[in-house]
Amino acid sequence: MLNSDVRVRPVESSDREAWLRLRAKLWPDRSPEDLARESDSFLRGGDLWRFGALSIPFLVLVAERSGDELVGFLEASVRPFADKCRTAPVGYLEGWYVVPEWRRRGIGSTLVRAAEAWVRSRGCREIASDARVENSLSERCHRALGYEEVERLIHFRRELG
Ligand SMILES: CC(C)(COP(=O)(O)OP(=O)(O)OC[C@H]1O[C@@H](n2cnc3c(N)ncnc32)[C@H](O)[C@@H]1OP(=O)(O)O)[C@@H](O)C(=O)NCCC(=O)NCCS
Repeated sequence: MLNSDVRVRPVESSDREAWLRLRAKLWPDRSPEDLARESDSFLRGGDLWRFGALSIPFLVLVAERSGDELVGFLEASVRPFADKCRTAPVGYLEGWYVVPEWRRRGIGSTLVRAAEAWVRSRGCREIASDARVENSLSERCHRALGYEEVERLIHFRRELG
């Protein structure tokens, strides 16, 4: 059950530093500059995420503990399509993180359910997500919240000189 000291709400400009710290925990391989550039672009752009010329609906929720400390966040989007989904557009869980000391208290589920409600309100009938193959914690949590595995992929890239 969610602890009543914790509130889930949309991110605000004043959360920038705390949100960035949590993003760096979830994505330690990404450069702090990139993470900051994305966050700033979102905070400037309202509920849109901009990738060059493309803008997609985006939601950032934070879980705030009384005393203003952020203990988790979730980023979700509405993508034009997603692998193995039957409808389009579809909701997508882009990032999901709760600090270790606050896990297993329902914060992650509350974040996901709130994102699902937002996605539904935008007319979507499905929501998708992904996890690294080795992230068995994420896999267990997705399954616990009703997400079914649909595919495992290998991603490739090649430099075009
Ligand atoms: C995924 C994550 C956000 C879940 O946050 P959380 O606040 O612990 O989630 P909840 O407390 O709502 O747990 C929801 C359910 O997931 C399952 N679950 C959560 N942690 C689990 C664990 N360590 N082992 C087994 N099942 C677990 C349980 O079924 C749980 O429900 P229950 O506690 O009633 O049994 C959190 O574990 C996390 O930040 N992980 C590291 C980052 C990550 O991998 N994110 C996903 C990237 S794809």
